[in-house]
Amino acid sequence: MTAEPLIQLEGITKTFGNGAAAFQALKGIDLTIERGDFVAIMGPSGSGKSTTMNILGCLDVPTGGVFRFRGVEVQKLDRDQRSLLRRRYLGFVFQGFNLLARTTALENVELPLLYRGENKTQRRESALRALDQVGLVPWASHSPSELSGGQQQRVAIARALVTQPDVLLADEPTGNLDSERSVEIMLLLQRLNGEGITVLMVTHEEEMAAYAKTIVRFRDGQVERIEHSATALAQASGPA
Ligand SMILES: Nc1ncnc2c1ncn2[C@@H]1O[C@H](COP(=O)(O)OP(=O)(O)OP(=O)(O)O)[C@@H](O)[C@H]1O
Ligand SMILES: [Mg+2]
Repeated sequence: MTAEPLIQLEGITKTFGNGAAAFQALKGIDLTIERGDFVAIMGPSGSGKSTTMNILGCLDVPTGGVFRFRGVEVQKLDRDQRSLLRRRYLGFVFQGFNLLARTTALENVELPLLYRGENKTQRRESALRALDQVGLVPWASHSPSELSGGQQQRVAIARALVTQPDVLLADEPTGNLDSERSVEIMLLLQRLNGEGITVLMVTHEEEMAAYAKTIVRFRDGQVERIEHSATALAQASGPA
Protein backbone atom coordinates (compact mmCIF):
# COMPACT_ATOMS: atom_id res chain seq x y z
CA MET A 1 0.00 0.00 0.00
CA THR A 2 1.44 3.37 -0.93
CA ALA A 3 0.70 6.69 0.73
CA GLU A 4 0.67 8.43 -2.65
CA PRO A 5 -2.49 10.31 -3.53
CA LEU A 6 -4.57 8.48 -6.12
CA ILE A 7 -4.37 11.30 -8.64
CA GLN A 8 -2.02 14.27 -8.81
CA LEU A 9 -2.10 16.94 -11.48
CA GLU A 10 0.73 19.48 -11.43
CA GLY A 11 0.72 22.40 -13.82
CA ILE A 12 -1.26 20.50 -16.44
CA THR A 13 -1.67 22.42 -19.68
CA LYS A 14 -3.45 21.48 -22.87
CA THR A 15 -3.20 23.32 -26.17
CA PHE A 16 -5.34 22.36 -29.14
CA GLY A 17 -4.16 23.23 -32.64
CA ASN A 18 -0.97 25.00 -33.78
CA GLY A 19 0.33 28.44 -34.61
CA ALA A 20 -2.20 31.22 -34.89
CA ALA A 21 -5.05 28.71 -34.45
CA ALA A 22 -3.62 27.34 -31.19
CA PHE A 23 -5.99 27.43 -28.25
CA GLN A 24 -4.91 26.80 -24.68
CA ALA A 25 -7.80 24.95 -23.04
CA LEU A 26 -5.93 24.19 -19.80
CA LYS A 27 -3.61 26.80 -18.32
CA GLY A 28 -1.93 24.96 -15.47
CA ILE A 29 -4.21 22.69 -13.46
CA ASP A 30 -3.02 21.71 -9.99
CA LEU A 31 -5.25 19.16 -8.33
CA THR A 32 -4.81 16.28 -5.91
CA ILE A 33 -7.51 13.64 -5.50
CA GLU A 34 -7.33 11.18 -2.64
CA ARG A 35 -8.68 7.65 -2.66
CA GLY A 36 -12.31 7.48 -1.61
CA ASP A 37 -13.20 11.03 -2.58
CA PHE A 38 -16.38 11.93 -4.46
CA VAL A 39 -15.48 14.97 -6.55
CA ALA A 40 -17.83 17.18 -8.56
CA ILE A 41 -16.14 19.31 -11.20
CA MET A 42 -18.12 22.44 -12.03
CA GLY A 43 -17.57 25.52 -14.15
CA PRO A 44 -18.78 27.43 -17.20
CA SER A 45 -19.00 25.82 -20.62
CA GLY A 46 -15.56 25.77 -22.23
CA SER A 47 -13.68 26.06 -18.93
CA GLY A 48 -11.82 22.78 -19.52
CA LYS A 49 -13.80 20.23 -17.51
CA SER A 50 -14.09 17.58 -20.22
CA THR A 51 -10.53 18.20 -21.38
CA THR A 52 -9.37 17.47 -17.83
CA MET A 53 -11.60 14.38 -17.54
CA ASN A 54 -10.18 13.05 -20.81
CA ILE A 55 -6.64 13.47 -19.50
CA LEU A 56 -7.57 11.82 -16.18
CA GLY A 57 -9.18 9.00 -18.13
CA CYS A 58 -6.04 8.49 -20.23
CA LEU A 59 -8.12 9.21 -23.33
CA ASP A 60 -5.96 12.24 -24.13
CA VAL A 61 -2.48 13.45 -23.16
CA PRO A 62 -1.62 16.85 -21.71
CA THR A 63 0.67 19.30 -23.52
CA GLY A 64 2.63 20.03 -20.35
CA GLY A 65 2.76 19.37 -16.62
CA VAL A 66 2.78 16.13 -14.66
CA PHE A 67 -0.08 13.65 -14.19
CA ARG A 68 0.56 10.97 -11.61
CA PHE A 69 -1.82 8.06 -11.09
CA ARG A 70 -1.01 5.99 -7.99
CA GLY A 71 2.37 7.69 -8.03
CA VAL A 72 3.13 6.66 -11.60
CA GLU A 73 3.88 9.40 -14.13
CA VAL A 74 1.35 8.67 -16.83
CA GLN A 75 3.29 10.57 -19.55
CA LYS A 76 6.16 8.13 -19.12
CA LEU A 77 3.92 5.21 -20.07
CA ASP A 78 3.56 4.19 -23.71
CA ARG A 79 0.21 3.93 -25.42
CA ASP A 80 -0.31 0.27 -24.55
CA GLN A 81 0.59 0.78 -20.90
CA ARG A 82 -1.83 3.71 -20.74
CA SER A 83 -4.66 1.64 -22.15
CA LEU A 84 -3.85 -1.13 -19.66
CA LEU A 85 -4.03 1.44 -16.86
CA ARG A 86 -7.35 2.63 -18.23
CA ARG A 87 -8.85 -0.85 -18.44
CA ARG A 88 -7.51 -1.98 -15.07
CA TYR A 89 -8.33 1.04 -12.93
CA LEU A 90 -10.89 3.29 -14.60
CA GLY A 91 -14.59 3.10 -15.42
CA PHE A 92 -16.36 5.63 -17.65
CA VAL A 93 -19.89 6.96 -17.73
CA PHE A 94 -20.96 9.45 -20.38
CA GLN A 95 -23.86 11.84 -20.69
CA GLY A 96 -25.34 9.98 -23.67
CA PHE A 97 -25.14 6.48 -22.07
CA ASN A 98 -23.48 5.02 -25.23
CA LEU A 99 -25.24 1.66 -24.94
CA LEU A 100 -25.51 -0.71 -27.89
CA ALA A 101 -29.06 -0.83 -29.21
CA ARG A 102 -30.69 -4.24 -29.84
CA THR A 103 -28.35 -5.68 -27.25
CA THR A 104 -29.60 -6.61 -23.80
CA ALA A 105 -28.61 -4.76 -20.65
CA LEU A 106 -26.68 -7.85 -19.55
CA GLU A 107 -24.73 -8.07 -22.82
CA ASN A 108 -23.95 -4.35 -22.71
CA VAL A 109 -22.51 -4.76 -19.23
CA GLU A 110 -20.53 -7.86 -20.26
CA LEU A 111 -18.82 -6.03 -23.10
CA PRO A 112 -15.70 -4.72 -21.29
CA LEU A 113 -14.98 -8.27 -20.12
CA LEU A 114 -14.78 -9.59 -23.67
CA TYR A 115 -11.54 -7.64 -24.04
CA ARG A 116 -10.17 -9.43 -21.00
CA GLY A 117 -10.72 -12.83 -22.56
CA GLU A 118 -13.04 -14.00 -19.80
CA ASN A 119 -15.29 -16.94 -20.62
CA LYS A 120 -19.04 -16.68 -20.90
CA THR A 121 -19.79 -17.99 -17.41
CA GLN A 122 -17.36 -15.54 -15.78
CA ARG A 123 -18.71 -12.67 -17.86
CA ARG A 124 -22.31 -13.46 -16.99
CA GLU A 125 -21.55 -13.75 -13.29
CA SER A 126 -19.65 -10.43 -13.17
CA ALA A 127 -22.26 -8.62 -15.28
CA LEU A 128 -25.10 -9.82 -13.05
CA ARG A 129 -23.16 -8.66 -10.00
CA ALA A 130 -22.71 -5.21 -11.58
CA LEU A 131 -26.40 -5.04 -12.56
CA ASP A 132 -27.25 -5.96 -8.98
CA GLN A 133 -25.12 -3.03 -7.74
CA VAL A 134 -27.37 -0.67 -9.70
CA GLY A 135 -30.61 -2.52 -8.90
CA LEU A 136 -31.34 -3.70 -12.44
CA VAL A 137 -31.13 -7.49 -12.33
CA PRO A 138 -34.85 -7.79 -13.26
CA TRP A 139 -34.11 -5.78 -16.45
CA ALA A 140 -31.09 -7.84 -17.53
CA SER A 141 -32.73 -9.23 -20.68
CA HIS A 142 -34.20 -5.91 -21.85
CA SER A 143 -32.65 -3.79 -24.59
CA PRO A 144 -31.93 -0.05 -24.05
CA SER A 145 -35.05 1.02 -26.00
CA GLU A 146 -37.14 -0.82 -23.42
CA LEU A 147 -35.54 1.09 -20.54
CA SER A 148 -36.09 4.62 -19.20
CA GLY A 149 -33.28 7.18 -19.42
CA GLY A 150 -32.47 6.69 -15.75
CA GLN A 151 -32.35 2.92 -16.18
CA GLN A 152 -30.14 3.26 -19.25
CA GLN A 153 -27.72 5.40 -17.28
CA ARG A 154 -27.69 2.76 -14.53
CA VAL A 155 -26.83 0.12 -17.15
CA ALA A 156 -23.99 2.38 -18.31
CA ILE A 157 -22.82 2.66 -14.69
CA ALA A 158 -22.98 -1.13 -14.31
CA ARG A 159 -20.88 -1.46 -17.47
CA ALA A 160 -18.32 0.92 -15.93
CA LEU A 161 -18.33 -1.08 -12.68
CA VAL A 162 -18.06 -4.56 -14.15
CA THR A 163 -14.25 -4.44 -14.29
CA GLN A 164 -14.18 -3.36 -10.62
CA PRO A 165 -12.32 -0.10 -11.27
CA ASP A 166 -10.75 2.08 -8.57
CA VAL A 167 -12.13 5.24 -10.13
CA LEU A 168 -15.43 6.06 -11.79
CA LEU A 169 -15.23 9.00 -14.22
CA ALA A 170 -18.56 10.50 -15.21
CA ASP A 171 -18.86 13.52 -17.54
CA GLU A 172 -22.31 15.04 -17.00
CA PRO A 173 -23.93 11.69 -16.13
CA THR A 174 -27.28 13.35 -15.49
CA GLY A 175 -27.16 15.79 -18.42
CA ASN A 176 -29.96 13.91 -20.21
CA LEU A 177 -32.11 13.14 -17.17
CA ASP A 178 -34.90 14.93 -15.34
CA SER A 179 -34.21 15.99 -11.76
CA GLU A 180 -35.87 12.99 -10.08
CA ARG A 181 -33.85 10.53 -12.20
CA SER A 182 -30.74 12.65 -11.63
CA VAL A 183 -31.13 12.42 -7.86
CA GLU A 184 -31.40 8.62 -8.16
CA ILE A 185 -28.12 8.54 -10.06
CA MET A 186 -26.49 10.79 -7.43
CA LEU A 187 -27.69 8.52 -4.61
CA LEU A 188 -26.30 5.55 -6.53
CA LEU A 189 -22.92 7.24 -7.04
CA GLN A 190 -22.91 8.20 -3.37
CA ARG A 191 -23.58 4.61 -2.31
CA LEU A 192 -20.88 3.25 -4.64
CA ASN A 193 -18.48 5.84 -3.25
CA GLY A 194 -19.40 4.66 0.27
CA GLU A 195 -18.46 1.13 -0.84
CA GLY A 196 -14.97 2.39 -1.68
CA ILE A 197 -14.86 3.59 -5.28
CA THR A 198 -13.45 7.04 -5.99
CA VAL A 199 -15.91 9.08 -8.06
CA LEU A 200 -15.10 12.05 -10.31
CA MET A 201 -18.03 13.66 -12.01
CA VAL A 202 -18.68 16.77 -14.07
CA THR A 203 -21.98 18.52 -13.54
CA HIS A 204 -23.57 21.87 -14.32
CA GLU A 205 -26.06 21.60 -11.48
CA GLU A 206 -25.31 22.78 -7.95
CA GLU A 207 -28.07 20.49 -6.69
CA MET A 208 -26.22 17.44 -8.04
CA ALA A 209 -22.78 18.68 -6.97
CA ALA A 210 -24.09 18.85 -3.41
CA TYR A 211 -24.01 15.03 -3.31
CA ALA A 212 -20.23 15.07 -3.74
CA LYS A 213 -17.71 15.46 -0.93
CA THR A 214 -15.48 17.89 -2.80
CA ILE A 215 -16.41 20.52 -5.38
CA VAL A 216 -13.71 21.71 -7.77
CA ARG A 217 -14.63 24.89 -9.63
CA PHE A 218 -13.02 25.52 -13.00
CA ARG A 219 -12.77 28.87 -14.74
CA ASP A 220 -10.99 29.63 -17.96
CA GLY A 221 -8.74 26.57 -17.98
CA GLN A 222 -7.76 26.83 -14.33
CA VAL A 223 -8.96 25.62 -10.96
CA GLU A 224 -10.63 28.61 -9.42
CA ARG A 225 -11.62 27.12 -6.07
CA ILE A 226 -11.91 23.83 -4.18
CA GLU A 227 -14.72 23.41 -1.66
CA HIS A 228 -15.58 20.64 0.75
CA SER A 229 -19.31 20.21 0.64
CA ALA A 230 -21.76 20.11 3.51
CA THR A 231 -22.29 16.42 2.72
CA ALA A 232 -18.61 15.75 3.38
CA LEU A 233 -18.67 17.73 6.62
CA ALA A 234 -21.75 15.84 7.79
CA GLN A 235 -20.11 12.49 6.96
CA ALA A 236 -16.85 13.48 8.63
CA SER A 237 -18.53 14.49 11.90
CA GLY A 238 -20.53 11.25 11.92
CA PRO A 239 -23.90 10.58 13.56
CA ALA A 240 -24.73 12.72 16.59
N1 LIG B 1 -10.36 18.61 -29.78
C1 LIG B 1 -10.41 19.94 -29.63
N2 LIG B 1 -9.91 20.79 -30.55
C2 LIG B 1 -9.93 22.12 -30.38
N3 LIG B 1 -10.45 22.73 -29.29
C3 LIG B 1 -10.97 21.94 -28.34
C4 LIG B 1 -10.99 20.51 -28.45
N4 LIG B 1 -11.57 20.00 -27.33
C5 LIG B 1 -11.91 21.07 -26.58
N5 LIG B 1 -11.55 22.23 -27.18
C6 LIG B 1 -11.74 23.59 -26.64
O1 LIG B 1 -11.21 23.63 -25.33
C7 LIG B 1 -12.06 24.38 -24.44
C8 LIG B 1 -12.44 23.53 -23.26
O2 LIG B 1 -13.32 22.50 -23.71
P1 LIG B 1 -13.98 21.44 -22.73
O3 LIG B 1 -14.70 20.48 -23.59
O4 LIG B 1 -12.95 20.92 -21.82
O5 LIG B 1 -15.00 22.37 -21.93
P2 LIG B 1 -16.05 21.96 -20.82
O6 LIG B 1 -15.69 22.70 -19.57
O7 LIG B 1 -16.18 20.49 -20.73
O8 LIG B 1 -17.39 22.62 -21.42
P3 LIG B 1 -18.92 22.08 -21.43
O9 LIG B 1 -19.48 22.45 -20.09
O10 LIG B 1 -19.54 22.85 -22.53
O11 LIG B 1 -18.90 20.58 -21.67
C9 LIG B 1 -13.23 24.85 -25.28
O12 LIG B 1 -13.00 26.18 -25.68
C10 LIG B 1 -13.22 23.91 -26.47
O13 LIG B 1 -13.70 24.55 -27.63
MG1 LIG C 1 -17.71 19.11 -21.24
